[in-house]
Order: sequence, then structure tokens, then C-alpha cells
Amino acid sequence: MKQIQSGRLADSRREFLRKTGAVGIMSTLGVGFFTACSEDTEPNIPPIADGPGGNSGVTVANNVITIDLEVATALAEEGGWTLIPQSRVLLVNTGSNNLNALTSVCTHSACDRNWTFSNNRFTCTCHGSRFNTDGSLVNGPATRPLRTYPVSRNGNIVTVNLS
Ligand code: FES
Repeated sequence: MKQIQSGRLADSRREFLRKTGAVGIMSTLGVGFFTACSEDTEPNIPPIADGPGGNSGVTVANNVITIDLEVATALAEEGGWTLIPQSRVLLVNTGSNNLNALTSVCTHSACDRNWTFSNNRFTCTCHGSRFNTDGSLVNGPATRPLRTYPVSRNGNIVTVNLS
């Protein structure tokens, strides 16, 4: 019986050291530690594309993003949005043929791909900062707005200049 208890103690001690060691390593690296934390329970419209090669109708070249709304049809509708990770850009259709382009790098701690969108607001789920579609801050912990980029439109072709 004692051996079993000692074994359990040893096991729990090993488990404790394993866990604290892991936390220490993650803290030392300082990357992605909080990215899995999210208290946001708002409904989320999934982005139409969120990865390299998955951005149908979206091309990126020389600091210019070009979107063909005939292909990226979800982005053509009000409330449609997408994250372009390779450019670290959020695009959102705000209605009346208008699209806004914002950096996806959160001004709090620089999470760049943990975004949800609902009720016309972006939420960085790393720590819960929220932003309007024009990049202005709704609530922290961030204290600064998101940078915006100029967007032009010619028919169904939308161009975002990142320079
Ligand atoms: Fe903390 Fe976005 S990185 S809220």
C-alpha cells in the first residue's frame, strides 16, 4: 500500500515538474503562450479564406493585394470578411460597395491570426481586444487602433496597397 502511495506521489511530482517545465519553456520562448486562451463566446462567421493557397480570388504581389469579388463572392457581401495570413491583413465588407483593410497584427501583443468577427466588430481572441471595422478601438487590453490600408475598387476588382 505504501509503495502505491509513494508511486502516486512520485507520479504526481513528475507530472508537476513536467507541467511547470513546459510552462517555463513556453514563457521563455514567449511565443504563442496565450493564443489558445479565449473567453470570447460570440458567434463567428468563418472567414472565406484563411491561409496561403486558400484565398480564392485573392492574390498578393509586391505589397499589393488584389481581390476578384466575382471569385471571392463571400467578401462581396456586407459582413463578409477574410484574413490573409501571409500579408497579415483583415478585409471586411462594410456595405455600400465598401471594403476596409486592416492590419491583423493586434496592437496589444501582436497576435496576428486569432480573429473573430461579429456585430461589425473584430475580436482578437488572444486577450479579447475588440475593434470596429475602421480599426478604431472598442475595448482593450489594447490601447491603440489597428492600422488601416488604402483600398480602391474598379468594378469587381479590389486593390489594397500595403506600402
Ligand atoms: Fe492581446 Fe490581441 S494580442 S488582445
